[in-house]
Amino acid sequence: MALHALHGLVDQLATQPIIFIGGKGGVGKTTTAAALASYYASQQKKTLIVSTDPAHSLGDVLNVRLNNEKTAVTPYFDAIELNPDVIVDAHFAQIESTIKSYANPDMMPKIREHLRLSKSAPGAQEAAMLESMCQHLITAADANYQHIIFDTAPTGHTLRLLVLPEMMGAWTDGLLAQQRRQAKLRSVANHLDSHNQKSNQKDIDKKIDKKDVPNPFAAKKPDRWEQAVAVLEKRKALFRQAGILLHDRTKTAIVLVMTADVLPLAETKRAIEQLEESKLNPSAIVINQLIAPAQSDEFWRLRAERQQQLLQDIDNSFSNYPLYPIYLQQTDVRGTEALGALLRPLS
Ligand SMILES: Nc1ncnc2c1ncn2[C@@H]1O[C@H](COP(=O)(O)OP(=O)(O)OP(=O)(O)O)[C@@H](O)[C@H]1O
Ligand SMILES: [Mg+2]
Repeated sequence: MALHALHGLVDQLATQPIIFIGGKGGVGKTTTAAALASYYASQQKKTLIVSTDPAHSLGDVLNVRLNNEKTAVTPYFDAIELNPDVIVDAHFAQIESTIKSYANPDMMPKIREHLRLSKSAPGAQEAAMLESMCQHLITAADANYQHIIFDTAPTGHTLRLLVLPEMMGAWTDGLLAQQRRQAKLRSVANHLDSHNQKSNQKDIDKKIDKKDVPNPFAAKKPDRWEQAVAVLEKRKALFRQAGILLHDRTKTAIVLVMTADVLPLAETKRAIEQLEESKLNPSAIVINQLIAPAQSDEFWRLRAERQQQLLQDIDNSFSNYPLYPIYLQQTDVRGTEALGALLRPLS
């Protein structure tokens, strides 16, 4: 059985600036993410933990009230719980202000109503959350954090978030290509238009013969699409940059958490297949809530034996990945002291 000592996980991830913690619901993602962050912070490594899980249990695990802005948990430990509602509102407020700068004011009430409805459209929250995650990913890398740890929502969601930068990049490409085609047509139209205006201007000049008066037709009409294109270009650059960071194995590590049970094993297999397809190989697998084999009580002894059998399957299924055990504790592990202690080397 190739179980590593748990402290090895801390060493393995020591040089990884970005760590994603994923896995099925309830297996211990938040506990693992918070334990890693607490340990690194206790070693005076500046660490940021970002929770993308709308259930917001990170604050409960840390015994700290968190919100959409950074909160200092300890001097070396900051935490954020992304709030989808706040992010979606900010995202749509930005879209509205971009549209407002070029749209006909009479149209604004209709546009506002459309935007209000779009906020609850499928995928709107996901897209806004993804953009916010990518922003945190990039700004944290520039803000002197040695580690930024993402505590994510259950597997399916996480995987979509990880591959979304590519999808969003392709989607934005499509929109930009369309904008370019329209810009070309417009420039032909403008050219014809300015040709006509020049002939008109000649007639006017002839009539008023005032050569140094500025030509009112020379000023270029501001292109109302330019701003929209600039926003799209910026978003595309953000997704591209995030995509590069996520695929760089020296920068990003993906850690999957599971328990030694049949369903988490099946889900972890599927998760790994999907990640490998997107060339995002996990770095390690944590097997949480293990029961120490020597148990006097019949019930716990049978549970422990069952886990040992499943550990064989896990070992065979994930032979390419280092496996780290976390044993079941008597109570929930809460607060940075207890969480950090979980990962301390055994003496
Ligand atoms: N090794 C452990 N020993 C004892 N309790 C644990 C252990 N790991 C996790 N727990 C407890 O199990 C519950 C679920 O853990 P946690 O919240 O970390 O899971 P999660 O994967 O983040 O869940 P979700 O999918 O809902 O976000 C919590 O109450 C946590 O305190
Ligand atoms: Mg969680």
